[in-house]
Amino acid sequence: MRKKRIVIVLFLCVMLVSTACGKDKTNNTSTPTAEATPTAEATKAPEVTPTAEATPTAEATKAPEATPTAEPTQIVTDPGKVLVVVFSATGNTKKVAEMVAKIENADLYEIVPAVPYTSEDINYGNYNCRALKEQGNASARLEIGSDAIDISGYTRIYVGYPIWAGSEPRILDTFVESYDFDTATVIPFCTSGSSGIGSTGTKLATLAGSGNWQTGKRFPGSATEKDVQAWIDSMKQ
Ligand SMILES: Cc1cc2nc3c(=O)[nH]c(=O)nc-3n(C[C@H](O)[C@H](O)[C@H](O)COP(=O)(O)O)c2cc1C
Repeated sequence: MRKKRIVIVLFLCVMLVSTACGKDKTNNTSTPTAEATPTAEATKAPEVTPTAEATPTAEATKAPEATPTAEPTQIVTDPGKVLVVVFSATGNTKKVAEMVAKIENADLYEIVPAVPYTSEDINYGNYNCRALKEQGNASARLEIGSDAIDISGYTRIYVGYPIWAGSEPRILDTFVESYDFDTATVIPFCTSGSSGIGSTGTKLATLAGSGNWQTGKRFPGSATEKDVQAWIDSMKQ
């Protein structure tokens, strides 16, 4: 009987130990669940990667912006010589022509009438003055007194004149009809009291029959070198 009790006690002990081990196993199972937190953090890590990848993408967007800045602004310039031709009765257009010649490092050629204008000739308050009579006759061709010039070596030719009765002085018609502008770029400009350059450039181009004539520009008599520089710069960009 006593032996039987001992066996029962032993059996109970074994059961107790067995139950305790079973509890430990359950705890061991829950531990990995707690360790799942770092696993979740690991899942976050790849999320950081695209953010990090966004940086090069942003830099790549910047790159094309830098490209035009790196490239210099293209300036269209003629490789050849430049000539400035001018007719001026009272000095305003000649002054602008000298500015153009200085800026363009150009040669200057002045159209001088064979018969010079007196102040009375150009007194346009008088309808019967010589200049206005000439302007009233589209076929009038004033003789040029200055020596002829060889324009064949010039690739860009500026032609300057005052506006007389809304048009170019007739001596300009003589000049453009006397020369072959070939393929030169011809740029008309004028000074006036208030009138625009109008169709004078187109008329001169037609009379010349040669040259690549550009849109002209009118200046006031008070034009400064800054004005002239800005105009020339605008044509080169
Ligand atoms: C005969 C004559 C006619 C003129 N006709 C005009 C005209 O139609 N419109 C105008 O704005 N200025 C007219 N002007 C003013 C001149 O165009 C202006 O003073 C010009 O700057 C003169 O240039 P220059 O000093 O190079 O000769 C005329 C001047 C003269 C002498």
